[in-house]
Amino acid sequence: MKITLRLILSLLIATTIVVAGFSYFQAKHEEKRLNEELRLRTTVLSKSFKEAIESFLERTDQPDRIQRFIEKFQGHTRLIGLVVDMKDGQRIALPPELTQEELFKKESEKVIEGNKPVDINSKWNGRKVNYHGVPLVKEDQIVGALGLVHDRGFIVAQIGQFWKNSALTFSILAIILSIVSLFVIRWSVTGPIARIGLMVQKALGVETGVEPKTDKEQGDIEKLLYGVSHMAASLKAARLDLVEQSRAVNAEGTIWTKERLKDYLNSQLRGKKLFVVSNREPYIHRKKGNEIECITPASGVVTALDPVLQATGGLWIAHAAGNADREVVDKDSKVSVPPWKPSFTLKRVWLSEEEEKGYYYGFSNEGLWPLCHISHVRPVFRMEDWHCYREVNQKFADALLKELDDDPPMILIQDYHFALLPKMIKDERPDAKIALFWHIPWPNAEAFGICPWQEEILEGMLGSDIVGFHTQFHCNNFLDTVDRALECKINWANFEITRGGKTSAVRPFPISISGVPNAAAQETGKDPLEKLRQDHGLKDKKVGLGVDRIDYTKGLLERFRAIERVLEKYPHLQGELVFVELGAPSRTLIGSYQDHLKEVEKLVEKINQRFQKGNYRPILFLEEHHDQKRIFDFYRLADFCLVSSLHDGMNLVAKEFASSREDENGVLILSRFTGASHEFSSALLVNPYDVEGTAEAIHQALTMHPEEKKERMRKMRQIVREYNIYRWAADMITELLRSF
Ligand code: G6P
Repeated sequence: MKITLRLILSLLIATTIVVAGFSYFQAKHEEKRLNEELRLRTTVLSKSFKEAIESFLERTDQPDRIQRFIEKFQGHTRLIGLVVDMKDGQRIALPPELTQEELFKKESEKVIEGNKPVDINSKWNGRKVNYHGVPLVKEDQIVGALGLVHDRGFIVAQIGQFWKNSALTFSILAIILSIVSLFVIRWSVTGPIARIGLMVQKALGVETGVEPKTDKEQGDIEKLLYGVSHMAASLKAARLDLVEQSRAVNAEGTIWTKERLKDYLNSQLRGKKLFVVSNREPYIHRKKGNEIECITPASGVVTALDPVLQATGGLWIAHAAGNADREVVDKDSKVSVPPWKPSFTLKRVWLSEEEEKGYYYGFSNEGLWPLCHISHVRPVFRMEDWHCYREVNQKFADALLKELDDDPPMILIQDYHFALLPKMIKDERPDAKIALFWHIPWPNAEAFGICPWQEEILEGMLGSDIVGFHTQFHCNNFLDTVDRALECKINWANFEITRGGKTSAVRPFPISISGVPNAAAQETGKDPLEKLRQDHGLKDKKVGLGVDRIDYTKGLLERFRAIERVLEKYPHLQGELVFVELGAPSRTLIGSYQDHLKEVEKLVEKINQRFQKGNYRPILFLEEHHDQKRIFDFYRLADFCLVSSLHDGMNLVAKEFASSREDENGVLILSRFTGASHEFSSALLVNPYDVEGTAEAIHQALTMHPEEKKERMRKMRQIVREYNIYRWAADMITELLRSF
């Protein structure tokens, strides 16, 4: 609308100037013409009156006779007065009251003195008049002056009328012009621009059904420029990424491995010390009878960063979670890990129950988690949780700062538990190089804007030199959020934010897995799969698989509804299809997780009752923590794996499933709202909210030709091989090294 208004206003201003200028000159011309006409008329009239009065004066000079004589001249159009001023001061006039007045006396004197006609415009009784005087001559002597007074009001009236007509013409012209311009602009300018703007916005990507929006009041052109600049920036980033990729593959010629990462880091870091901070610790010590065992949690972060620290020998700071953690640390809460080959130091941070409640369960998982995932569970923001979150971040900052020597440190901070940590460290150690990796999605600016402490969070994060996300889409959302919430300069071409003289680069680093089948799974041979089938009544069954933490973002309800629908639509699958859900309980102290679990269990129960036949149950919900070996056995056994997250930063289950299928068999059905779907275009991509569509994808997976399965699986495995976790770590550290 803004642009339409601007164009129409400019057109109207230009038209007004032209019409007003043109009318002004026309009015002047008309006025001149009318004055000229009047002058001619008075000249002619005065001539004939002069002759008549002069010949009358030859005969008499008695005023009353002259008065009677001039009364004959009355009645001429627009002649409203006639004065005869004699040289001796005597005046004879029409109408007679003019005789008593001094009006035009001076003009008559001028005529007599100059012996030539005088023509002036003046006023009489409030009327605009013209006085035209000529000398009266008797026997070659000037005896007086004859003045004719004409009404000029008609000239003023005619000019006034002319202006009125011009104004009317202009108004009609303006209305017609505005209407025509409005249509022309709509059809030929703003309409197409708005359509292009929409196309660009769509091309920029719409995730989880939420359009990237901007609440700045933008016109169509601004929207288009905004979209195009984002798109250009994305293209530039994609190009840089491609160059980088081809350089890595061509120059090095090999895939990233644990060994290669170690060599690379040793050559690049040259003695620089590396620090990692995460909430989950890489090694947990727990009691097993009288013994203490050390276990490695199944976590992508640990898989990625453990080899890094093993190679560089740095320090990892994490929250102590094991019940034997205290028993193995020294007085500074440190322990060398892994116990079987000590390579780096783990420093444990102890949290009270209160602190864990506010920082981990409260602000991190009831606030930030639902805030960043668009899965329709409301975030809860409690002031006391926020204070706890801040205090725990400060506690980690203090624990880390104590460990730093004079060399500029390199610090890798993991995830949404530590949004405030980068700034806390940077304030104390401006020479520190910090990368913060955000493992969950970043929503659009409107969604994030509901957080009451969004500015503090963003400021905290911008203490980092690099802020990493899984996808470019999340980077763009973050830049947009900062753009709206903070005073800063955004460089969309380089994806950089500058605030208070400090610059943070925002980059995508898609996380992955190690890229080779899990060793434990390989050892299992072929029998374990048979055993699994036997143990779970899966002999001669088609098997679908889901592997998740039980979390409302994973779309478990939608997944089971799709299973129900496929059984309903294709009844021959009843008794034949079993869906195994390996669900690990998670964050069970939180109300929304408890409610969600109850709902899931109820639905599974309902579906199982509906389709059960003898021992057959369509859904096998194995609700417990499963070890890696068991999970990988199930991956290899399944006909299809269904990942139905409503929103997910990456989703490593999808990548694990592909990497475990050396047989190139099995079909991956993948939610389009996961980060992994950006890489796995050969999976069957679904919208989990669309139960019918997901059910159809399940049927397609079960009836897919073996060659097509192989083709799709091959492509996904190739991606996992090339873009593995070692590459993720190498890319992020390389980027951080660049900022030195
Ligand atoms: C998400 C987070 C990870 C976290 C995982 C498990 O994927 O991004 O950092 O390890 O959830 O959550 P938990 O609360 O059990 O650590």
